[in-house]
Amino acid sequence: MVLNDNRKIIAVADPVALAKAAAERLLARITDNGDRVAICLTGGSSPKQLYELIGNEPYRDQIPWDRVHWFIGDERFVPATDSLNNMRMARQAFLNGCAPLVNIHPMATNAADPDEAARRYEAELKSFYGADSLDCARPLFDVVLMGVGPDGHTASLFPGYPALTETERWVVGVPQAHVEPFVPRVTLTLPVLGSCREMLFEVGGADKRAILTRVLAGEDLPAGRAVSVGETTWLVDRAALPENFRE
Ligand code: 6PG
Repeated sequence: MVLNDNRKIIAVADPVALAKAAAERLLARITDNGDRVAICLTGGSSPKQLYELIGNEPYRDQIPWDRVHWFIGDERFVPATDSLNNMRMARQAFLNGCAPLVNIHPMATNAADPDEAARRYEAELKSFYGADSLDCARPLFDVVLMGVGPDGHTASLFPGYPALTETERWVVGVPQAHVEPFVPRVTLTLPVLGSCREMLFEVGGADKRAILTRVLAGEDLPAGRAVSVGETTWLVDRAALPENFRE
């Protein structure tokens, strides 16, 4: 189903189909680009199954690990070894066993504060991109993975927070989260997350249906504002799919 603003919704049966559909799209984008590939991962629990899938056959062998770089769209400002750390989850699920260390780009949560970590990550992204401003014709990322929280946040862009309207900075510190876990965050901003060939939301489970209904109805929520300069795809399982999107 295509929404009138170019966002596409793909409905799948269940969480297993959700992870598989996401893996297929990710792989297609990776193989589409014969050069250096940049993927922006997301945190939370939704992508865990996808991460485990791509770290194993049949996907593992099809990914050219030496030329794929892995970034994170938002991070909880906790040590890299803390169980709340988003990159730690991705490392454990697949990166440690598959990706060269130099291709893994975590945020520096050992910095003095979230703002300092944000400044450092912004510098790293700009150096990787090779420019200080983004060109729509040359997106920073091949794929940006996203999730949606119960208040409509995505990455660590919470409703009504100043980070949501930031257009200059690439990465910002967020002193206080709006939902659990209540730890400071560091997040990429909307223009930077949107600088991708495909933005891929993964939304599954009945507890997501209420917020997804609001986002897809056009309510002004962060997840609804997040769009790619390329394609924006919402992969949604049956349990999360709003009533009016059911066949
Ligand atoms: C985080 C996130 C966040 C997440 C959503 C959905 O660090 O918490 O990156 O934006 O994607 O809150 O989280 P779940 O997948 O756990 O529902």
